Amino acid sequence: MPALQINGKTLNLDVTDDMPLLWALRDVAGLTGTKFGCGVSLCGACTVHVDGQAVRSCVTPVGSLAGKQIVTIEAIGDDPVGARVQEAWRKIDVVQCGYCQSGQVMAATALLRAKPAPTDAEIDAGMSGNICRCGTYGRIRAAIKIAATTK
Ligand code: FES
Ligand code: FES
Repeated sequence: MPALQINGKTLNLDVTDDMPLLWALRDVAGLTGTKFGCGVSLCGACTVHVDGQAVRSCVTPVGSLAGKQIVTIEAIGDDPVGARVQEAWRKIDVVQCGYCQSGQVMAATALLRAKPAPTDAEIDAGMSGNICRCGTYGRIRAAIKIAATTK
């Protein structure tokens, strides 16, 4: 497997090309902030960024990622939009159990990069694939609005 670019570092991981990125991140690279939820692209808990786009790492084989920039929750605070999202999350205490939240933050950051001032409908559409069993959807939407208006 060629080297992977993860959070600005070049990592040579001992993994096969068909290993899902989620496994490589958590079990090999030790980056456990990205969570396993469903494993079949249905919940969004495993969301990371690949070249700035929100991607489900549970169904993304590492062999498809040569030369691409992967960013996980551990480094999203280094991104100006990601930092604003995290600040807004803290400001209104979005998190309940927390399990889905790294995926929520990654999805929200990708949404705000694409749509800096999203409408409610755009927030709902952009976040609809990220499931929260604690039902924090109202606070997620409010935090995205705070992040959108914070400079
Ligand atoms: S664990 Fe990847 S979408 Fe649920
Ligand atoms: S905060 Fe518990 S699943 Fe979302």
